Amino acid sequence: PLVENLAGIRKKESLLKARLGLRGCQIVPGDCDDRPDVKTSMGKATDELLRQQLPAGESIVAVMGGTTMAAVAGTLSETLADNRQLTFVPARGGMGESPAIQANTVCARMAEVTDSHYQALYLPELSSESTSSSLRREPMIAKTLNMIDHANVAIHCVADAMAMAKRRQMPDEDTAVLEQRHAVGEAFGDFFDQDGQIVYRVPKLGLSIADLDRMDLVVAVAGGHSKAAAVEAYFQIPPAESFLVTDEGLADTILKK
Ligand code: G3H
Repeated sequence: PLVENLAGIRKKESLLKARLGLRGCQIVPGDCDDRPDVKTSMGKATDELLRQQLPAGESIVAVMGGTTMAAVAGTLSETLADNRQLTFVPARGGMGESPAIQANTVCARMAEVTDSHYQALYLPELSSESTSSSLRREPMIAKTLNMIDHANVAIHCVADAMAMAKRRQMPDEDTAVLEQRHAVGEAFGDFFDQDGQIVYRVPKLGLSIADLDRMDLVVAVAGGHSKAAAVEAYFQIPPAESFLVTDEGLADTILKK
C-alpha cells in the first residue's frame, strides 16, 4: 500500500503541476490542518527541493514568515550551504505576528542551521504609504531593502485571506474591504480574489508578487484543505514559474473540483 500511495502521490503531483501551471510540485501525505506535523514533512520536502534547485555560488534568499515557513526553517539541512554562499533576508517588513513566526526569526534560524548570513528588517506593520516612504530612507532599512531588491531566490507561503486578516488583527474597515472585494488569499501582503486579481495591498516595504518574475528560483510552501482556494487563486496571478510544496489535503481539494 505504501508503494501504491507513493505512485498515487506522484500522479497527483503531475496533475496539480499542469492544473496550476507550476515549474514543479511536491506533495506530502496528510493534511496540515488536521495534523501539524505535516508541516514538518513539507519542510523536509522543501529542503530536498532546495538542495536540488538552489543555484551554486552566491544567492540572496528572501523568505516570508508564518507557521509553515517556521517549520521549513526547522528542517533545513546543515549541508545546504556547503557548495553555496547564502544570505537570508526577510521578504518584507511587518512584525504584526508573534516573534516565533516572524520573517526575521525564520531568516535567523535558516542562517544559523546552514551556517550562512542573514540581514534583518525590523519594521512594524505599517498603516500608511507616507510612513513607508520616510522609513525607506533610513540607512539600516535602505541597506536591507537593497538586498531584498537583489534577492534571486524566494521561499514563501500563501495564506487564506480572512485567516490572515484575523491573525494580523487588521482593522475592521480593512477586513470589510477584503470581504466586499471577495479576497480569498494573501501572499507578500497582497490580497487577491479567486480570479487572481489583486484587490488589496497592505502598505509595506519589501517584495511584491510582481518582483518574483526576476528570480532564479521561487518556492511556495502551503498546505491544508483550508488553503485550497487561496493557492488555486494565487497561481492565476500572472505567475513567475514557481515550485509548490504542499500536502494531499490541499492537492485533493483542488483536484476533485
Ligand atoms: O503570508 C502568509 C502567512 O504568513 C502564512 O502563514 O504558514 O502560518 O499559514 P501560515
